[in-house]
Amino acid sequence: MVAKIALPRILRIGGGSFAEARDVLRVLGLNSPLIVTDPFLRKRGLARILSESLSALGEPRIFSETVLDPTVIAVQAGLEFLRGGTHDCVIGLGGGSSIDTAKAIAVLAVHGGRMRDYKAPREQNEPGLPIIAIPTTAGTGSEATRFTIITDDETGEKMLCIGLAYLPQAALVDFELTLTKPMRLTADTGVDSLTHAIEAYVSRRANPFADSFALTAMKEIWTHLQIACFEPQNRVAREGMMLAATQAGIAFSNSSVALVHGMSRPIGAKFHVPHGMSNAMLLPAVTEFSVPAAVERYAECARVMGMVPPGTAANEAATGLIQNLHELNKKLKVPTPGEFGIDRQAWDESIPTMVEQALVSGSPANNPRVPSPQEIERLYHEIWTD
Ligand SMILES: [Fe+2]
Repeated sequence: MVAKIALPRILRIGGGSFAEARDVLRVLGLNSPLIVTDPFLRKRGLARILSESLSALGEPRIFSETVLDPTVIAVQAGLEFLRGGTHDCVIGLGGGSSIDTAKAIAVLAVHGGRMRDYKAPREQNEPGLPIIAIPTTAGTGSEATRFTIITDDETGEKMLCIGLAYLPQAALVDFELTLTKPMRLTADTGVDSLTHAIEAYVSRRANPFADSFALTAMKEIWTHLQIACFEPQNRVAREGMMLAATQAGIAFSNSSVALVHGMSRPIGAKFHVPHGMSNAMLLPAVTEFSVPAAVERYAECARVMGMVPPGTAANEAATGLIQNLHELNKKLKVPTPGEFGIDRQAWDESIPTMVEQALVSGSPANNPRVPSPQEIERLYHEIWTD
């Protein structure tokens, strides 16, 4: 099998890399960015600091109306704002939502049409505007992926869009931007990264290049995640998480995610559960479901993360993985869907739609154990009582 690998041209990783945006734009021959961010980061002044650092190059402008779980409407607003100026690139500054919005704007600005036209399985490889990503959470890995996820306001569907056009040209990965993030956000985004690493490694599209990033990332995440959550100023833990989130992004962008993500997106779309939190709700149960089809791969995850001693037999190690994932959820206070506040009846009634949306995304087909619609339905029931 030929592994098709694609990476950002420039990665600047480490404390202080945020200040290198101007140099990165210069290297890329770009000078007039649209900065896409959220209202909170604008209020905190981060977007203004970035804009001022770039003002010597051209005329940066700031669009700060991105929303959590970005929608077609928010993307359209950003696109219109972009057309009000002259821009040769888009900078996504923030969590996955800001970066994903920036990606969508960059593609629509050049290729036009409606966002839903770009939904997978379509692949958008012809480039849009160049994208520069500056993540402020250690989570989505969007700075290193060829995906964006945009919610269709009309249908409520979280649309996965894929292709090289969404892959940033450059990413500035600066852990110092995460030092002020609260526990809940750190936990949810961190588990998202862990899920990326595990799913990339067990995916049917796994390959040796992505494997190396996935294994390194999960080891680092397991070492640093809880410390980053409970000692927010711990620079070693924050730095470890930030690097690992990008590595996990590289892993799944060049392999894939699988059933956890396939089932998680509909939960987020329907019930507005934060993405990493709905991953966490699913991860132990989906792992248990999937282990029989890839016991050695799951066992290796447990060994690499130090959950079991090296050399532990595969079945025992895989069981250890499932136990540890359950325990992690307890430590990170991950709620069940009911504890999150979802109504039982609304949950049950939504399951057929969620099953359909999960299957349409294509992610379940990458799972080591490919589920039937009935099995996905059963898993949605199972995590309610988990
Ligand atoms: Fe994710």
